[in-house]
Formats: sequence, C-alpha cells, structure tokens
Amino acid sequence: MDVDTQLATLREGALAALATAESTDALEQWRVEYLGKRGALTQVLRGLGTLPADQRPLAGQAANAVKAALEDALAARGEALKAAELVEALQAERVDVTLPGRPPALGGLHPTTLVVERILDIFRDLGFRIAEGPEVETDYYNFGALNIPEDHPARDMWDTFYVRPPDVLLRTHTSPNQVRVMERVLRELPRAEANGTPPPVRVVVPGRVYRYEAQDASHEWMFYQVEGLAVDAGLTMADLKGVLVAFARQMFWPDVECRFRCQYFPFVEPGLEMDMQCHVCRGAGCRVCQGGGWIELLGAGMVHPFVLRNAGYDPDRVNGFAFGMGPERIAMLKYGIDDIRLFYGNDLRFLEQFHQAG
Ligand code: FA5
Repeated sequence: MDVDTQLATLREGALAALATAESTDALEQWRVEYLGKRGALTQVLRGLGTLPADQRPLAGQAANAVKAALEDALAARGEALKAAELVEALQAERVDVTLPGRPPALGGLHPTTLVVERILDIFRDLGFRIAEGPEVETDYYNFGALNIPEDHPARDMWDTFYVRPPDVLLRTHTSPNQVRVMERVLRELPRAEANGTPPPVRVVVPGRVYRYEAQDASHEWMFYQVEGLAVDAGLTMADLKGVLVAFARQMFWPDVECRFRCQYFPFVEPGLEMDMQCHVCRGAGCRVCQGGGWIELLGAGMVHPFVLRNAGYDPDRVNGFAFGMGPERIAMLKYGIDDIRLFYGNDLRFLEQFHQAG
C-alpha cells in the first residue's frame, strides 16, 4: 500500500473512531491510539524514512496534513462533548417556573388563642381595654383582697398550687386582676384621685390559671380565663347583663337566649352565673345540656364593696361589675369539642383542624 492510501485509510478510520468517543476518557484513549508516541500516525511518519528521497517531502507534507486534521478534529470533538455535557447538566437542573409553588408548612393558631382573641375583639368593640397580670400571684391578691376567707376550701393545698406556701401561689383565677387593675389606674392617674373622681375602668384580662384538680372531660389543671371588670359611678345589673348578652350574641349567634342565676362568689354581691341556650338543641333539651336546654357560660356579679375599698375606691361613689369566663369551655361550645384534654394533649390531628380557622 502506498503512503497516500495508508494515510487516507488511517485518517478515515481515526475520524470514524473519534465520532464514537463519548467521554473525555475515550478522547484520551483515541489520542494515544492515533497521535501518541506509539500511535498509528507516528508509525506512518517513522516509515517515511524508508521512502526514496524524492517522494519524502510530498509524503511528509501529506502526513503532517493528516496530523493537523486529526488534531483539529480532536479539539472540535472535545468542545462538542463539553457543550453536550453542559446541556445535559442544565437539563437535569431544569425548573418549570410555570408550576405553582410548594406552600411552606405554616403553623396555625391554637383553638384557645383563636377564642381568646375573638373574646378580646368583642370586648374591645364594647369599649374595654386589655390588661395582663402575673401568673405567679400572692395569697393577698388571689384570695385575701377578694374577700375569700382563710378557711375557704379554695385555699386548701388540694385545690391550689403553692409556689412558696402560704404566700406565693399559681393564680387559681384571673380575678386578682380586679384589684391589681384598679390599683394601677389610681396609681397612674393620681390627679384624678386627688379630684375625688376615680377614672372609670373597663378592662378584660386574659391569661392562664392553675388549679390542683383531677382532670376529666371538662376539667383541666391548667386552663385560661378572661376576666372582665367595669368600675364607674352608677353602674347597675342592667349594665352587666347588657354587656354580657351583647357578648354572647357576637360570640355565638345573634338571637341566642341567655339567663342569669344567683351564685355565690365572695368578691361580688350579688353574684350570678350566666347560662346560654344549648347550642346543640337550641333549648329543647338534649344529651349535651343534660335535658335542661341551658349551658353554663360564666360567673359574674357586682363588685363587692370590700374589694372596691381594698383597691382604694370609695364604694359610696363608684361601683362596678365583674365577670370571669373559661375560653376552652367556650371553644368546646363553639367548635363542638367534647373533651377539654384535647386542648393541651399536643395531638396534631386535633390542632391542625383549626389552622384554617385562623
Ligand atoms: C371563677 O374562677 C371566678 N373568678 C369567676 C368570676 C369572676 C365570678 C368575676 C364573678 C366575678 P369559676 O371557678 O366558676 O369562677 O371559673 C370560671 C370559669 O372558668 C368557669 O365558668 C369555666 O368556664 C372555667 N373553668 C373553671 N374550672 C375549670 C377547669 N378545671 N377546667 C377548665 N375550665 C374551667
């Protein structure tokens, strides 16, 4: 075979092989095979020495041309492979920007929070402000200032969590804030006091309370209360009833029936409990209201003169009304929850049902 044919065959074979090389490794192998020190082209170049002298220059030129062609082809193939790899990488990372986004997993508000906020909103609309007080309370504010006598069963070790007996405890209700708020109002507005006209008070106080109580479907040892207090000159039971009925109509449904029964709380006189028409049977009598048609909603009453005096108010000039309600019990009525222990059991299946409600 003459040199030209040899070179042409080599060139054709090499280019065909190059076209099938699919990786950098394969390209390197190809380079060694054809252009390397012991590669096919080098062999041909070496053989040129055996040619007659007059044929050598032309054959040399032809061999160098093939070498240059193969080197160019190698570089081009290298570029092409790199481009293909880039396209592949881009395709692997392709994002369809027209797809809807994945919603982040957001939490939601706890049913107690939902109901407490709703209660506060309603009272805010009725002209009440929001106040807060400590959960770790003194015996004085929790009991003494509220006219709860030393021997009252609520003061028993078995009903109250004492932090440092006998003076420091976890509040058993939000009522200590009646005296705390009245004191604060007087303290912060001393000029009004000097004028003998204590400013009117209208507050609601939400917060956690604690009782050393056996748990059951309607009793927790830790739960929330919302306390309400209004103090002014000339308040009457009609104001108390008007505010609480307006609250129930906003909270439940617009023509819900309410009734008031006498009840004893040492810090109010008269004291009462408010019931609402059963939300399930609307008063007809059912299992939920145990046939009576009514559900107990909250405790309330006219602030006892003893409590007003403790807070520095003159019961001959002003009087007031107060109330206290349990938001978990209200949430149970509103959402049809049949066991209070679900609230703080941390079962997501229960809690997630309220995420939309927020
Ligand atoms: C009181 O705590 C009074 N301080 C309420 C009050 C305030 C009366 C102002 C007069 C004037 P009582 O113990 O009834 O009252 O509790 C009030 C509300 O808290 C109840 O109506 C109920 O909704 C809720 N509650 C009471 N005990 C529990 C409990 N163990 N678990 C969940 N909720 C409770």
